[in-house]
This record gives sequence, C-alpha cells and structure tokens, in this order.
Amino acid sequence: MSDSKNIRIPQGRGLQPMYRLLLLCLLSFILLVFLYYNQDPASHFVIPSVQYSSTSRVGRVAICLVGGARRFELTGPTILKHVLNVFPEADLFVHSNLDENSFKLSLLRSAPRVIEMRIRRPAVLNETEEQRMVFAASSSPNGIQGLMQYFDLVEGCPDMIGAQESRGSFKYDWIVRTRVDGYWMGPLDLKTFKWDSYVVPEGSRYGGLNDRLGIGNRSFSTVALSRLSLLPRLASAGFHDLNSESSFHEQLKLFNISAVELRFPFCILSDRQIGYPPMPISWGIPVASISSPGPLSGAYCRPCIPQCKGKCIEKLGLDKMKSWSWTEWRNGSLELCDASGPWQEGWEEIFKKDAGIAAANVMHKVKEMKIEECVQEVEGLKRKAERWNGPDPIEICNLGLSQVG
Ligand SMILES: *[C@@H]1O[C@H](CO)[C@@H](O)[C@H](O)[C@H]1NC(C)=O
Ligand SMILES: *[C@@H]1O[C@H](CO)[C@@H](O)[C@H](O)[C@H]1NC(C)=O
Ligand SMILES: *[C@@H]1O[C@H](CO)[C@@H](O)[C@H](O)[C@H]1NC(C)=O
Ligand SMILES: *[C@@H]1O[C@H](CO)[C@@H](O)[C@H](O)[C@H]1NC(C)=O
Repeated sequence: MSDSKNIRIPQGRGLQPMYRLLLLCLLSFILLVFLYYNQDPASHFVIPSVQYSSTSRVGRVAICLVGGARRFELTGPTILKHVLNVFPEADLFVHSNLDENSFKLSLLRSAPRVIEMRIRRPAVLNETEEQRMVFAASSSPNGIQGLMQYFDLVEGCPDMIGAQESRGSFKYDWIVRTRVDGYWMGPLDLKTFKWDSYVVPEGSRYGGLNDRLGIGNRSFSTVALSRLSLLPRLASAGFHDLNSESSFHEQLKLFNISAVELRFPFCILSDRQIGYPPMPISWGIPVASISSPGPLSGAYCRPCIPQCKGKCIEKLGLDKMKSWSWTEWRNGSLELCDASGPWQEGWEEIFKKDAGIAAANVMHKVKEMKIEECVQEVEGLKRKAERWNGPDPIEICNLGLSQVG
C-alpha cells in the first residue's frame, strides 16, 4: 500500500532536484564567468592586458623569473602585462639576489598569483675542479663564478616548484622560465607551448641554445633547469670549454630532449657596453633598440635612437654570426643602438615614447619612491606571496633608498 506511493513520489520529486541542480550549475557558471572577467589585477601601475580565453585549458602553469632587478622599473610592467596577466592562473616563483635594486620587485605586488619570493643574500659559490674543467674561463662576463651564480638562480626554480607541488600533492603541466631583465613587447603566446620539445627563443645561440627563456612540460623543464646539478653529468661525458648556451644544449642532448627555436617578443634590457658596430669578424653582439619592431627573441636591448636600420643592417652581414649572436633582422625587425657607451642622454624620453605613458609613470614612481612607500609596497608583496624567503622589507628598502647624496 505504501509501496506505490513510495515509488511514485520519489519519481515525481526526482525531477525537481535535477532542475535545481541544473539551475545551480548555470548560476555558478554565470558567476564564474563574471568573476573571470572582473578579476581585479590589484594594480595601480599596469594596464590589464587581453586575456587568452584558452589559458584554463593548458593545465597548471608555473612561471619562474630569475635574475637581478637592476632595471625592473622598466621591465617589470612589461612582464606583468605580457606574461603574468596573460596567464592569470599561473603560479609565479621568483629567485633573485639581494641588492640595492631588490625593492623594485615590489612591482610584482600586482601579479595575479605570487607563490614564492626568494631573495637571497649574495654569497660566493664554491667552484669545483669539475666545474672549472667544464667551462671556459671566458664563458661569462663574470667568469665561472658569474656562471655558477646564474645557474644557482635558475636551479632555484625546480627547487621552489617541486616544494610547492609536494605541499599541494599535484604536478605542474608546464614550466615557463624567464628573466627579471626581460623587456616584453608583446604577449607570451600559448601557441609557443610544445609538449614534445623544449622551446627556446631563436637566435642568440652563442654556440649552443639561447637560454634566456625556456618553456617545457614538467619533465623536460626539470632537465633544462637543473643547470648546476647536471654539471657532473657533463663532466663525466667529457665536455670542456663550454659556455652557458653550449652546456645548456649538451645537457638537453644527454637526455634526448629536442629543442625547438621560436620567435618571442622580448629582449634583455642591458646596461652592458658593447663594441659597435657588431662586426661578424669579431663575433660582436648586436644591441637592439627597444623601438625595433621585433620579435627580438631575447637579444640585448636598450632605449636609444637607432644608429643602424634598414639598408644599414643589410650591409652588416649579420648572418655570418648565425651560430653566435645572430638575431633575425629581415623585414626590418631589428634596429641597432650604438652601445659602446652608457645609455644615451635623454633615454627616459625615448623609453616613454616606445614603452608608453603607463610604463613611464611606473619608472617615475619607482625613481621617486621614499622609504615609507617602499616599505609599504614590499610589505604588500610579502603579504601577497604565499612564501616569503627573503630579508625584512625594511632592510630591502634601506639598501635601495638610503644612500646619502
Ligand atoms: C665552500 O667550501 C668551504 C671550504 O671547503 C666550506 O666551508 C663551505 O661551507 C662551502 N660553501 C658552500 C656554499 O658549499
Ligand atoms: C613531456 O613530454 C614527453 C614527450 O612527449 C613525454 O615523454 C613526457 O612524459 C612528458 N612529461 C610529462 C611530465 O608529462
Ligand atoms: C638517449 O638516446 C640514446 C640513443 O638512443 C640512448 O642510448 C640513451 O640511453 C638515451 N638517454 C636517455 C637519458 O634517455
Ligand atoms: C618577412 O615578411 C614576409 C611577408 O610578411 C613573410 O612571409 C616572411 O616570413 C618574413 N620573414 C621573416 C624572416 O620574418
């Protein structure tokens, strides 16, 4: 008697929860879409960039930035706009040396997600006999020690990323590694993520592979970023007289990882003074103007009024440097600076013209920053980061802003 009732009633009610569930799904979807497009980039500096609607489909992405913050007031806003804000769901890791420019990293306060900030005190790294054997002393502007320092910063990436994975019991699908001194002129494109290869920028090979940016899946990236810990492998394979780029190349080859060179819209903003013009005969290094249409794929650059472009570039015969410092110049993509001296007088105005008013405003803001504001900004970054592995913000700001005179 109660059977028929019991059977019918659940059926009748069964439809209602289904509709409710559907409605709930629909509402959450609308809410998600709403939240997605209303994400506050929490930025008072940077113009939010167009977001790829497809980023959620790539899986989990870790972005690791390494290096000194020397000109981060100029490069930071471009990294935020063209890399970090393009991948708002990516986790950011930063490894940098403590110096008078570290306070500029506070610009990362407006990055979508900051997982770990590692700002370490500079210390001389022990050089082993093995390392001296593998590398040529002339392999870096600061010798073998400079190279070790750089490798150690890079190796911090898999270290921080692995720790985060252990804490959350997950694995990243992709790791993007690039540099704090990268000046980005266009967005990092999802199309440059390749599952079967490790992707690096084209050109600036210096006898190996350009190591100023790298994109790869989790396992390939682990090999690519283990710059220090794989040195014994290189040594036992009998390599010697390598530089950063050639050891990078050999290290990927040891693990049978194929590298793909693609063009990327960034350059390395540098204060280095480099002979001009970059004669193929002396294996010179071209320094691009940031006004170059690009893509510059990680070539050195600075703000300047170009000394050489168009026909002048054609005449230089840069293609002879294909395996070394070569940068694609066809179609007017490259405009050269005379970088034999310091940045030219009035470079701030040139920068403003090329980078835009928003970027120039950040530059001025950082330049005029006082201690209190600095501490507030660095504290802001410290709060934002899930893990702060660096000195007290007051120490960072004192180091940067308290010099007398
Ligand atoms: C470097 O070597 C010295 C002496 O061998 C040792 O005391 C020191 O701990 C080493 N430093 C590092 C960073 O390994
Ligand atoms: C990375 O890609 C290679 C080649 O497709 C594959 O063998 C490897 O398993 C991938 N690594 C991860 C962690 O998925
Ligand atoms: C790379 O490939 C070679 C030849 O196919 C093989 O002998 C070697 O074991 C491979 N190395 C790794 C690390 O997979
Ligand atoms: C130059 O431009 C042409 C036409 O857009 C294009 O097909 C070609 O690939 C470009 N070459 C280089 C080296 O960028």
